[in-house]
Amino acid sequence: MTQDELKQLVGKAAVDFIEDGMIVGLGTGSTVKYMVDYLGERVQKDGINIVGVSTSKRTAEQATNLGITIKDVDEVDHIDLTIDGADQIDKNFQGIKGGGAAHLWEKIVAINSRRNMWIVDESKMADELGSFPLPLEVIPYGSKQLLKRLDAKGYHPEFRMANGEHVLTDSKNYVIDLHMGKIEDPHALAADLDSMTGIVEHGLFLDLVNTVIVGREDGPEVLQA
Ligand code: A5P
Repeated sequence: MTQDELKQLVGKAAVDFIEDGMIVGLGTGSTVKYMVDYLGERVQKDGINIVGVSTSKRTAEQATNLGITIKDVDEVDHIDLTIDGADQIDKNFQGIKGGGAAHLWEKIVAINSRRNMWIVDESKMADELGSFPLPLEVIPYGSKQLLKRLDAKGYHPEFRMANGEHVLTDSKNYVIDLHMGKIEDPHALAADLDSMTGIVEHGLFLDLVNTVIVGREDGPEVLQA
């Protein structure tokens, strides 16, 4: 199976966890895009009644076009389950997210969800985090100075650019990727990044996920964290 087929597989498997009447957090990325397509089918064909809370403008647009009702995170009193992708997951179910520059909104939705599920193809599973660059969402003002401070700490920062322009998040912030290679202590790194002025949010998602569905050649594997 191709990586894309594995993403489709877990996208479909995740929709089985969505029940009528749920408020569902909808993640961002190519894997979630398949999940939202399947969810749209269930809404249209089976008539299930759910409300989606989106983690990006992209997903909100896709879901709305498929007839899924979308509400803002501040318009709901709870979220039953959030289904999102991930860029890397270690053996302790800690994750890196933000490859699609959506990790700030994704984390806001995740921390407000009763349950969190990640859906990934098997290439995302790793012993340790860090080979995937760690994204930071940063305030544009003073961001070059911030980059120097990150560099001085040995974090190997790089602005995320596209066609010579800064990539902008949905909140109009910049992204800096940390090319750390290997993250020895994710909690210590998260605490350090949390303490740095100018960083709005980092892509370390620690102690947040409850269920991971991994797309493997022989089918989707459901892991409970
Ligand atoms: C978005 O910023 C990310 O956190 C995505 O959830 C992550 O990059 C997974 O994306 P893919 O499903 O496209 O690999």
